[in-house]
Amino acid sequence: MTLRISVIGTGYLGATHAAAMAEFGFEVLGLDIDPEKIATLTAGRVPMYEPGLSELLVKHVAGHEGSTGRLRFTTSVKEAAEFGDVLFICVNTPQRKGEFAADMSYVDAAIDDLAPHLTRPALVVGKSTVPVGSASRLAERLASLAPVGADAELAWNPEFLREGFAVQDTLRPDRIVVGAHSERAERLLREVYAEPIAAGVPFLVTDYATAELVKAAANSFLATKISFINAMAEVCEAAGADVTQLSAALAHDERIGGKFLNSGLGFGGGCLPKDIRAFMARAGELGADQALTFLREVDSINMRRRSRMVELAREQCAGGFLGRRVAVLGAAFKPNSDDIRDSPALNVAAQIQLQGAQVTVYDPKAMDNARKMFPGLAYADSALEAAEGAHVVLHLTEWQEFRTLDPAELGAVVAERRLLDGRNVLDADAWRAAGWTYRALGRPS
Ligand code: UDX
Repeated sequence: MTLRISVIGTGYLGATHAAAMAEFGFEVLGLDIDPEKIATLTAGRVPMYEPGLSELLVKHVAGHEGSTGRLRFTTSVKEAAEFGDVLFICVNTPQRKGEFAADMSYVDAAIDDLAPHLTRPALVVGKSTVPVGSASRLAERLASLAPVGADAELAWNPEFLREGFAVQDTLRPDRIVVGAHSERAERLLREVYAEPIAAGVPFLVTDYATAELVKAAANSFLATKISFINAMAEVCEAAGADVTQLSAALAHDERIGGKFLNSGLGFGGGCLPKDIRAFMARAGELGADQALTFLREVDSINMRRRSRMVELAREQCAGGFLGRRVAVLGAAFKPNSDDIRDSPALNVAAQIQLQGAQVTVYDPKAMDNARKMFPGLAYADSALEAAEGAHVVLHLTEWQEFRTLDPAELGAVVAERRLLDGRNVLDADAWRAAGWTYRALGRPS
């Protein structure tokens, strides 16, 4: 008999995971406490911008013409608990207010809510990013609260998906890591992931703590790589060197590689910043804080990028923002996403506005989210409209459409042809040839 799968939490991770499980051929029930989200997903729509996800939902959500009908959604915990042979926990673990540590309340609540309904053997699988040590604590709690006792087992299976590539990363991840403490748990997860395993995706079985750490370590490494190149950008700026040439040269060394070596405004989003902070907090609790003090530096280098961009913009406005118009291209924390959580672009826009400039923002997909979160900023419907009358244009999120902007067309509407490229991807020569002052972080002026 095919496995039945419940997915608890239908945010980015959960919605994509549920759709991918249906694509693998399982019967899937997605659970969320938010009835609006459930209604949206049931209608085959996605509450965020994620390429390919809506198509996958429509293909599988029951009630759509021609769909497999394998995927349904509910707000009933009891229904989800009773439905699944395997139950994935996909709720979020945000940074706690005023602290570095992760807020585990949603994960804890998911276990506490599910457990009393587990009256037959079930495998609960955590996918959320959690502080190391959480899984063993949650496994005990699960077994103690579930009517089936130890037959309600836990496994930990961290998720490495990137926003904007969520569907492809979920269907064909780089690797599947499973923290499992029984043969049954491992066997069930091999069955769940049979398709990617058959396609050659490595399946790595570890203990709970190692599985939890793989995620924290991976995100820390990526953040470190970005901050490393941004630290080099600071030195380049002081020495009159060019960080883009430097990173291109470094990338030829296969041991280093070119990925995540793009210098610019640094990292944001709902994962890297909070995950490195939560990791430091957890290491502190374990008495291993010294091992991760470098992550504090990684975080500071990253935040300094934002201040440096504000400073450069001020320089371009002849030393003061009062009465100046600033155009900001980009609001999402990265291209191909409408996510604005800890967005470097919006952080810079808000700082500049606070210092007296009139800031107008344009983003291809993240406008609605930006408007809600930063109602004080002005918004335009296109890059051209945002640039009207601007004394300086800031390119802060590297959407494809910004790379093909016509410098002459934009030049005709701005007050002054001054461009700051916060992502180091625009064609400096083309902009300069059209009479613009082009500046970027870590490159000679
Ligand atoms: C990240 C991890 O990549 C993913 O494996 C994990 O599951 C969740 O966190 P995501 O937050 O979607 O994914 O974004 P990612 O593509 O990693 O980019 C993170 C940030 O780093 C973005 O703000 C991006 O603009 C920035 N970045 C990335 C750089 O500044 N330079 C780079 O070279 C790469």
